[in-house]
Amino acid sequence: MGRLIVVSNRVATPTETKGSAGGLAVGVFGALKDAGGVWFGWSGDVVSETVANAGPVLEQEGSVTFATVGLTRKDYDQYYRGFSNATLWPVFHYRNDLARYERDEYAGYRRVNAWLAHKLTKLIEPDDVIWVHDYHLIPFAEALRAEGVTNPIGFFLHIPFPAPQILLNIPPHEELVKSLCCYDLIGFQTRNDQVAFHDYLVRHARGEVTDTGEGEGAVASAFGRTLHTGVYRIGVFPDEIAEQAKRYESRQHVLDLKQSLEGRKLIMSVDRLDYSKGLVERFRAFEQLLERAPEWRGNVTLVQIAPPTRSDVDTYQQIRQELEGEAGRINGRFSALDYTPIRYLNQRYDRWKLMSLFRESQIGFVTPLHDGMNLVAKEYVAAQNPDDPGVLVLSIFAGAAAELSGALLVNPHDAIGMSEALQQALAMPLAERKARYETNMTALRKNDLGVWRDSFLRDLRSLKREA
Ligand code: G6P
Repeated sequence: MGRLIVVSNRVATPTETKGSAGGLAVGVFGALKDAGGVWFGWSGDVVSETVANAGPVLEQEGSVTFATVGLTRKDYDQYYRGFSNATLWPVFHYRNDLARYERDEYAGYRRVNAWLAHKLTKLIEPDDVIWVHDYHLIPFAEALRAEGVTNPIGFFLHIPFPAPQILLNIPPHEELVKSLCCYDLIGFQTRNDQVAFHDYLVRHARGEVTDTGEGEGAVASAFGRTLHTGVYRIGVFPDEIAEQAKRYESRQHVLDLKQSLEGRKLIMSVDRLDYSKGLVERFRAFEQLLERAPEWRGNVTLVQIAPPTRSDVDTYQQIRQELEGEAGRINGRFSALDYTPIRYLNQRYDRWKLMSLFRESQIGFVTPLHDGMNLVAKEYVAAQNPDDPGVLVLSIFAGAAAELSGALLVNPHDAIGMSEALQQALAMPLAERKARYETNMTALRKNDLGVWRDSFLRDLRSLKREA
């Protein structure tokens, strides 16, 4: 078996892969350890041109090399802050209203992809397979091919793939899809995303798509290329989460929270502070609960943990302000001297700490407006106490909704509907909570992070690159 090369915009540090970093980092690192290889991407630093060009910086951890490069200010602005996060991210999350398009940012995006590909080329060996992650790197395979690389290259899109009518809003949509077609295998989070991609190929690129007859696999041809597509639902390692959540449950932070709740019910939400997460809608749904079911006033608390992210992108500054306004308004309306309905925290917490807080809560409230998968929903379920599990209230627009049939599914645009689901969850009898939990846990175990990673890599390795 050849080595594995993983390429992603952000690269976990060797220390992070050992601790409680996101499950994804741990999962990807597991595959790297098994096969040996390289994890390549941006170091997260903005540096001078000389330092950027001197990279990559290599760090060795057993058979795995971490190879990272810094970005210059201009590259960061155009590639990361600009086209990736001010054009692709909003449009792929159906927020054309928040998207901008600047030609120079798009040119920068392509330039950085080509530059990164050039940097990686020297580290590639003939038998390696290359696995590229997410929307920052759509033109990466094309750039590697231009460098003469012939190894199999797969791409996994962690975020939704939008319906063609939405994608058309990005002026160079055709060039982007053409670049995607340079991959040998493209993995999507859900069938919907895969179908949206196929729709674009068929309706806007005179392409053809045929099911392979194996699972949800398909072969597509467009732009003179043939490629495979598949659905690979990203998961978690549920039993590890359950164990860690239990291990942390008697720690001081949990005891402090319990004490401060004074017997009130707890609703937990954890998201990056991003407009795709439906935070404003969620606060308003909680407000509806307090308005329509007055018996819950003073008796239920929403803890929203929302670490700020991409704070130098305008739209993120706006959502932050809006949320602060809403939290303040709702708290002003329903607080008492000894009660604050919404505890809104702009901080990052250790992952295992979060799992123990999930375990303590009666509801996990996860209501994105659009989300590729949403691993918080899966983590929430996995962290529950099997003898007294909380209820997951989940948006139909999270990829996870297709798998977690034990959740109460809600439409995040329906504040009253969401408040009714909260009431139902708060009043749910133990037997029903347990049954829903078991249904969800069965789905999580069947399709854990290892299955996601191994099935994608198995499919990628089985492909012979089509000319
Ligand atoms: C999403 C994206 C990831 C990204 C993460 C954090 O989950 O799919 O690719 O790494 O957000 O965003 P950031 O901009 O901080 O890397």
